[in-house]
Amino acid sequence: EQDVYVLAVESSCDETAAAVIRNGREILSNVISSQIALHTLYGGVVPELASRKHIENINPVIEQALSDAGKTLDEIDAIGVTYGPGLVGALLVGVAEAKAIAYAKKKPLIGVHHIEGHVCANLLEHPDLKPPFLCLIVSGGHTHLAIMKDYGEFEILGRTRDDAAGEAFDKVARAIGLGYPGGPKIEKAAREGDPKAIDFPRGKIDGSPYDFTFSGMKSAVLNYLNQAAMMKKEVNPNDVAASFQQAVIDVLVDRAMTAARDLHQDKLVLAGGVAANGALREALAAACKKRKIEFYHPSPILCTDNAAMIGAAAYYHYMKGERAGWDLNAVPGLKL
Ligand code: KG4
Ligand code: ZN
Repeated sequence: EQDVYVLAVESSCDETAAAVIRNGREILSNVISSQIALHTLYGGVVPELASRKHIENINPVIEQALSDAGKTLDEIDAIGVTYGPGLVGALLVGVAEAKAIAYAKKKPLIGVHHIEGHVCANLLEHPDLKPPFLCLIVSGGHTHLAIMKDYGEFEILGRTRDDAAGEAFDKVARAIGLGYPGGPKIEKAAREGDPKAIDFPRGKIDGSPYDFTFSGMKSAVLNYLNQAAMMKKEVNPNDVAASFQQAVIDVLVDRAMTAARDLHQDKLVLAGGVAANGALREALAAACKKRKIEFYHPSPILCTDNAAMIGAAAYYHYMKGERAGWDLNAVPGLKL
């Protein structure tokens, strides 16, 4: 059998990324140009600046990915690209670029769902992992509990009703003055704090056992900080970070274990930027071990946005014969 090489492009938020993947499972190159330094100046991602940075970076990033892989465009079998969800102007850069390459080189074009990509990051590091499995997807824009029934086929069990888990991390980090991006900063501060110091609410949605809500928890943190300021009481930011992080972890573990029990799932796959959180991984690993559930997560560099995961997802669509038309467009609110 002949090897299949996918060139993948990702530009949905603030990373410009390209990768070359062999047979959907093997990373030949994985280039990520992060815009964190740029957006840190504004305390968060500025969409127009992100688009402008993508347009500057995309060709060099793709060139680097091809050269790291030792491949030319002629040796690539298909181009995979994220077409949603994400920031529309950011997505358009990657989509237009992928279309131009596919058109000029007469290569098949595959449109990839960003969230499916996050899940597929696990396929790159766990060669034996095959669907069906339960997945917990926790990123800056999304929090989903789903079953991946087959490659590219999801059954959504639950989702957040308000903030995404990563969004909550980012907002709380800003409130305690840790800055952007919040997740890694909270994780670091939490290591020096007491997770039992403050009891923040672990919100539940009545009648929806697999849904999430993080806005009450986030408000409770803000109220705690405001009250302390009013009373001129000193706040230990490490305790706030640790207690908040613990509350998020408790909720995520609870929902994932409830779904695994109810639906008799013996594999749990963690995905998305928040999956980089060491304390969350430890808590899920322990909970899974107790229940004899096999637990999978990507290494940190494949948790946050990258193109390798998009290449892994694109491969399966390519093998099924799926092709995007020349009318492929960015879909900022694309559903899973
Ligand atoms: O998946 P991702 O890179 O982008 C989206 O698709 O949204 O996720 C980014 C999110 C941000 O909210 C960031 O704060 C969070 O992932 N994150 C973390 C950690 N690293 C990144 N959250 C908690 N702990 C971390 N170590
Ligand atoms: Zn992402």
